[in-house]
Amino acid sequence: MSQALATKQEENDSYEVDQSFYEDVISGLTGTYKTLSPKYFYDEVGSRFFDEICELEEYYPYQTELKLLPRAAKDIADIFLKPVSIVEFGAGSLLKIRPLFDEIKQVREFIPIDISGEHLNQACDELRSEFPNINIQARHADFCRPVDLPVFRGQRLGFFPGSTIGNFTPDQASDFLLSARKTLGKDAFMLVGVDTKKTPELLHNAYNDTQGVTAKFNKNILDRINREMNADIETKNFDHYAFYNTAKGRIEMHLVSKKKQSIDILGKQIEFKTGESIHTECSYKYAPEDFTALVSTSGWNVDQVWLADKDMFSMFLLRAKAVI
Ligand code: AVI
Repeated sequence: MSQALATKQEENDSYEVDQSFYEDVISGLTGTYKTLSPKYFYDEVGSRFFDEICELEEYYPYQTELKLLPRAAKDIADIFLKPVSIVEFGAGSLLKIRPLFDEIKQVREFIPIDISGEHLNQACDELRSEFPNINIQARHADFCRPVDLPVFRGQRLGFFPGSTIGNFTPDQASDFLLSARKTLGKDAFMLVGVDTKKTPELLHNAYNDTQGVTAKFNKNILDRINREMNADIETKNFDHYAFYNTAKGRIEMHLVSKKKQSIDILGKQIEFKTGESIHTECSYKYAPEDFTALVSTSGWNVDQVWLADKDMFSMFLLRAKAVI
């Protein structure tokens, strides 16, 4: 533990600081280009804001994928001749797993992996009462790192919906797919939701909703630092700013300082100039051929692709390469 962190904790026992969160925040905010990792959006409050985003009409990925899923689930149900264990990466509220349970009759086990424990536990309890014959074992972990799974006699199906893969850079997405391939084994399949490229206007509206829910979701990362590190950040002094970077094929979310200001995080002073930004999220959008190319160098082959109406969203079924 760093000296500053240890001292602060001795001074004030009423809060505990997550070491890696603290280190990531300090290193992200002290570089010349300030960043915070989007994985820190999802504490309990942030996960609830994200659920609210999914209810918004402007945020098309959620509803579009939800409509596409039963079709994909029906099409893949016959692939599985052995008992199936589904492993969901970044599971959150478990709102998308039901169509897979409904269509794939061989599902015996479900392992949702998510960093936000409280939120996941509640969602698992509800799912257990609805599907008592499926063994549901939640794992509280950072799914970007390799995860040890219990032994299972059957076939694994990885599930990564919501276009969360777009929140990785293409290199990180490739590393993640390779690590998922190692976790799931050589007989595995993986169903991945991927957002497509489309007009900047539609993309802009999805990340700048009129009710300001996305702005609250973005700013919650600062509130979370206040809550967990007893910091003094005035979130009203930051603007939510999201735009589509066409050259890079990604939405970028930022928090932009409205004025020259200084914040204190456990005794560490961080200075902001007027207009200086904290880059909080990238959300990459892929044309089907680009995602196919990315997958094939990452331990998988594309088995099937489904496209939503007007190509608004895509789902990919990947089959593990025997040798990686
Ligand atoms: C979770 N992830 C795929 C969302 C996205 O669209 O990149 C997170 C999000 N950020 C703003 N709105 C939703």
